[in-house]
Amino acid sequence: MKNRVYIKDLKDNIDKEVIIAGWVNVRRDQGKMIFFDMRDMTGLIQCVVLPNRMNIENSSAKNSDAFALGDTGHGTHDVENSLLGNLVKEIRPEWVLKITGIVNKRPDKNVKQDTLNGNVELEVINIEILNKAETAPFQVNEDTLGVNEDLRMKYKYLDLRTERMQKNIRMRDKIISFFRDYMHKNGFTEIETPILMRGTPEGSREYVVPSRLFNGQFYVLPQSPQQFKQLCMVAGFEKYFQIARCMRDEDTRGDRQLEFTQLDYEMSFVSQEEVLAYTEIMFIELIKSVYPEKKITQISFPRLSYAESMKKYKSDKPDLRENKEDPNELAFCWVLDFPMFEKNDQGEIQAVHHPFCSVKPEDKEKFMNGKDIFSIRANAYDLVLNGYELSSGSIRIHDQVEQKQVFNLLNISEEEQKKRFGHMLEAFTYGAPPHGGFAPGIDRIVMILQNEPNIREVIAFPKTGEGRDLMMGSPSEISDEQLKELGIKLVK
Ligand code: AMO
Repeated sequence: MKNRVYIKDLKDNIDKEVIIAGWVNVRRDQGKMIFFDMRDMTGLIQCVVLPNRMNIENSSAKNSDAFALGDTGHGTHDVENSLLGNLVKEIRPEWVLKITGIVNKRPDKNVKQDTLNGNVELEVINIEILNKAETAPFQVNEDTLGVNEDLRMKYKYLDLRTERMQKNIRMRDKIISFFRDYMHKNGFTEIETPILMRGTPEGSREYVVPSRLFNGQFYVLPQSPQQFKQLCMVAGFEKYFQIARCMRDEDTRGDRQLEFTQLDYEMSFVSQEEVLAYTEIMFIELIKSVYPEKKITQISFPRLSYAESMKKYKSDKPDLRENKEDPNELAFCWVLDFPMFEKNDQGEIQAVHHPFCSVKPEDKEKFMNGKDIFSIRANAYDLVLNGYELSSGSIRIHDQVEQKQVFNLLNISEEEQKKRFGHMLEAFTYGAPPHGGFAPGIDRIVMILQNEPNIREVIAFPKTGEGRDLMMGSPSEISDEQLKELGIKLVK
């Protein structure tokens, strides 16, 4: 919009005539004057319609029976003002307006210190209605945390208009852009890896996508870019990262969604110590630059072995805050030396982290001999923050024989190994460098830093606990024609 001024810049335009555009945030009638707040992406401004501006309308109505635009005998300015009088009584919250007005200093007694535009207001000269709005199903100018969540989900675009949600989403962007810059400054290359891929063995159920060209065959959505990032190391990139979307068909919780985002990274020729050091400095820098009001309880971050943590805190994600009521306290800690294998609920052996982790040198012999396997520790580490698992990673296997041994111990047959992981095993025979990496969950980071109770509050379009998108209405049925094309018959 030509000559539009953002609301945050109005204070630099005192006594000037300006144009703003945005939404009516709230309306207050006080005697003869009408006040309303306008909102754009940069903030709020109080607008005031003075009685003399509205009164012109009354006089023109009285004086002219055949009142018509451009023929009032009062000149155009009066016509605008007469329209203004009608308009201003009509406007309602969430209408979209373009307003011409004069930025006035507020009288001293009305100045609100420490709020944007607390010292100015906009005297309205003209209003153009760009769009009207139905009454919103909940108040958009108030915090919606207490509003029925299904309703918020159904009208997510309205929920996102609220101040808190706008802040959360904008801070999320700041955090992501900090990470991106930080990675680039340190020589990492962002590489996009496929969303349509073959199954990943990361423990959760996978989302499958039927192939149209190959009926009866399926793609799988990535639970993480784990295999691709390792293959990027084999490919010689040495330092890879990605703001990666991950999909897991698992039960959702406050800190889990079906789709979520990781800051995924991988480095070649690094020790565990180097990954930890790099990560630790990055998080300290993030807090310093994006959340300077927050304080980290202990630097360097305390380190616990998995065994110690379980013994002392009965948890592998201990909350080490000194004061859990303090919204600005951040207690990071490292949990190291995770076991390589565990038994799942069905009593089957599975990898604790994933099957690509290398084992600690001290446990290598047991590993190669397949002895006492539940005592074998991996070069696997977690970063924990305020009692949440923020990230997992490991130094990987880069040797075919070791990788096969993991699959053997997981009781994956030779044939199955070849079918599912042949590409990895083969890649390791073509000069795979030693490598390792990490993958902090972005949603959890933003949730904690924004002091939100769950990750749905920091995701623009999250899914419900049952995995539904109530706004778009997904998941949904597809047409018989689509099913036919995909070669799929539904069993009722
Ligand atoms: P992992 O499965 O531990 O490791 O995931 C790493 C981090 O991702 C976040 N996360 C989630 N966030 C929201 N909803 C979920 N359902 C969800 N699942 C995981 C967490 C978690 O710590 N490829 C390995 C990483 C590696 O080894 O480099 C991996 O994905 O913050």
